[in-house]
Amino acid sequence: MAKFILGISLFLVLLLTVSAQKPLFSTETGYDLSFELSELNQRTLSWQAQARATGGSAPEGLENCRPVGSYVIYREGTSFPDEADVAALNTFQNKMRSQTINPTFRFLSQIPSSRIPIASAGDLAEFGRREIQELASRIKIRFSEFFPTPDIDLSKFSFQSTNGSSSIESAVAFARGLVGLNQICETLSMEGNVTVACSENSRFTRYVTPTSAFISNDPADMDSLLRPYDTPSRKICLDVANKGRTDQEVMRFKMSGDARQLRDRIAQKMSMPGSRQLFNISGDEVQLLAKICGYHLAMFNDNNTWCRLFDYEDLNVAEYQRELGHYWNESYGFPINSMVACPLINDTLEYFDRLAARGAGAGASLPLMKFKFTDENTLIRLVSLLGIAKDPRQLGFGNYAQSRNRQFRTAKMAPFGGNLALNLFRCESPQVLFFNDQTFRVQVLLNERPINITFCQDAFCDLEDFKRELMAQAGQCQVQEACNVAFGLNPDGTRPGNRGGGGGRGNASGITPSRLLIALTAMMAMAKRSIHGL
Ligand SMILES: *[C@@H]1O[C@H](CO)[C@@H](O)[C@H](O)[C@H]1NC(C)=O
Ligand SMILES: *[C@@H]1O[C@H](CO)[C@@H](O)[C@H](O)[C@H]1NC(C)=O
Ligand SMILES: *[C@@H]1O[C@H](CO)[C@@H](O)[C@H](O)[C@H]1NC(C)=O
Ligand SMILES: *[C@@H]1O[C@H](CO)[C@@H](O)[C@H](O)[C@H]1NC(C)=O
Ligand SMILES: *[C@@H]1O[C@H](CO)[C@@H](O)[C@H](O)[C@H]1NC(C)=O
Ligand SMILES: *[C@@H]1O[C@H](CO)[C@@H](O)[C@H](O)[C@H]1NC(C)=O
Ligand SMILES: *[C@@H]1O[C@H](CO)[C@@H](O)[C@H](O)[C@H]1NC(C)=O
Ligand SMILES: *[C@@H]1O[C@H](CO)[C@@H](O)[C@H](O)[C@H]1NC(C)=O
Repeated sequence: MAKFILGISLFLVLLLTVSAQKPLFSTETGYDLSFELSELNQRTLSWQAQARATGGSAPEGLENCRPVGSYVIYREGTSFPDEADVAALNTFQNKMRSQTINPTFRFLSQIPSSRIPIASAGDLAEFGRREIQELASRIKIRFSEFFPTPDIDLSKFSFQSTNGSSSIESAVAFARGLVGLNQICETLSMEGNVTVACSENSRFTRYVTPTSAFISNDPADMDSLLRPYDTPSRKICLDVANKGRTDQEVMRFKMSGDARQLRDRIAQKMSMPGSRQLFNISGDEVQLLAKICGYHLAMFNDNNTWCRLFDYEDLNVAEYQRELGHYWNESYGFPINSMVACPLINDTLEYFDRLAARGAGAGASLPLMKFKFTDENTLIRLVSLLGIAKDPRQLGFGNYAQSRNRQFRTAKMAPFGGNLALNLFRCESPQVLFFNDQTFRVQVLLNERPINITFCQDAFCDLEDFKRELMAQAGQCQVQEACNVAFGLNPDGTRPGNRGGGGGRGNASGITPSRLLIALTAMMAMAKRSIHGL
């Protein structure tokens, strides 16, 4: 009876805490889970209807605008955790079996490892495949102008992916979603490119029109467009600019009262009731399980296994630790974090310039839309480059409580399947009779929601204003110059002059990457020591 009452009250507590507010899981949040229920319907409107529904307009009037191109950057759909996390989970389950544990949670140690097999680590999950296919079917509704007939010609669109398996699989799923799931597609994978060839099922149609998408991808360390943080020179630059700050923030948060109390709460919950022996679980293990709870929600819509360990507030605390990592490594912590994503913006603006410059008929070979498939690391940098979700105060290990209502939520910036669309429109002034007065305008959608960019007056922003203001905000995209400064050099790469001393000391050519690495390692070691010495 007591057990029964305990069970009921646990259930009620769970119901109250879980249904009160929906938890987010940093970048381990499923796409649909990152939306409020009220926002879901807007995603299936045409661009015009959606703009009207969200108060966006153009001076010329929306009815005088039409889309001329679009550049969309996607993160991979919901995927399995990486190998390190899967292995750590298996290890933890073993540890659970070797301790006495609260019977309520004993079943967690019995969850078979086949649920998240190590062989699938990092792969796109079935749920993620569907997310991406749905994104493709919705983009056809939003821009019906680009898809005038049910028969889709994939060669009119351009595709590119990182060489990561989940990104490539997402690109393939997207192409399949565009042609429609009633078509039969074959995928041919080669080194450096993947071809998706689709056609109607000839048993049901007399007119079979084959079409195919060509998806190119570069090796990770040479992909300066879609993995700009991973090329050797940028890696060093980012590390030097960071000076171990990310590790420091995360480590200090782990030692904070918020994180320790979270660990104690979970240890208490998992302990045998009445036992004086506290269940042995570390802060890192609590963090792992909170993350795995997010994966279960995203991949299986399951909040009834690992998630049962956590209250809403617990998940928020655990999430904040991961948010700090993203903030300092990839976002507003340092300007260079987002500046390295400049090649993507340059690529977009160049495409827009060509679209705007093409006369009637000329340049018809430009893609109608460009689709890029990358990871959260790049997407967060790009979203930050646009100044989206920037708070007046920095995120830090010591201001968890004050940051509860922060703008910066990576779950909303780069959930699984997260996407940033830059859409170009041509708008014509109706009252001008004697010459063709047209303005090109940019609309930004983050995860299919229209976003007001801080430096634009209209939701449909004049292309020239957009370019100028964005470049001003992005330090004119002088990435190498910013790196030089991070290295302690002048922006042009020369060494700062030795004023008043023995004259100039030459230029940067004396600084080699290996010397920089040595300096960097020393700095990191110093940073670590100062943490331990707290
Ligand atoms: C958890 O699952 C229950 C039952 O399916 C559901 O009512 C509830 O909304 C879910 N909570 C979350 C956060 O998804
Ligand atoms: C964008 O700004 C317009 C007014 O300029 C406002 O009506 C609209 O709600 C804003 N949209 C969003 C998504 O914030
Ligand atoms: C695709 O990759 C294959 C094998 O790596 C290569 O031979 C071929 O030229 C590539 N195709 C294109 C169009 O780049
Ligand atoms: C991606 O590129 C890296 C080199 O940067 C290489 O080691 C890796 O094998 C490539 N992955 C795939 C799936 O081709
Ligand atoms: C708790 O578990 C860790 C391994 O996760 C182990 O190293 C440590 O010795 C354990 N502590 C106790 C008191 O059993
Ligand atoms: C931050 O980036 C460094 C590499 O530059 C990496 O070693 C570290 O794990 C990252 N930290 C987080 C929390 O992502
Ligand atoms: C981007 O364009 C700007 C201005 O056109 C240029 O100065 C910069 O070098 C370009 N950056 C990259 C990374 O291509
Ligand atoms: C740097 O020094 C090298 C040789 O010492 C020279 O060739 C190069 O032109 C110098 N560069 C600058 C920017 O001064």
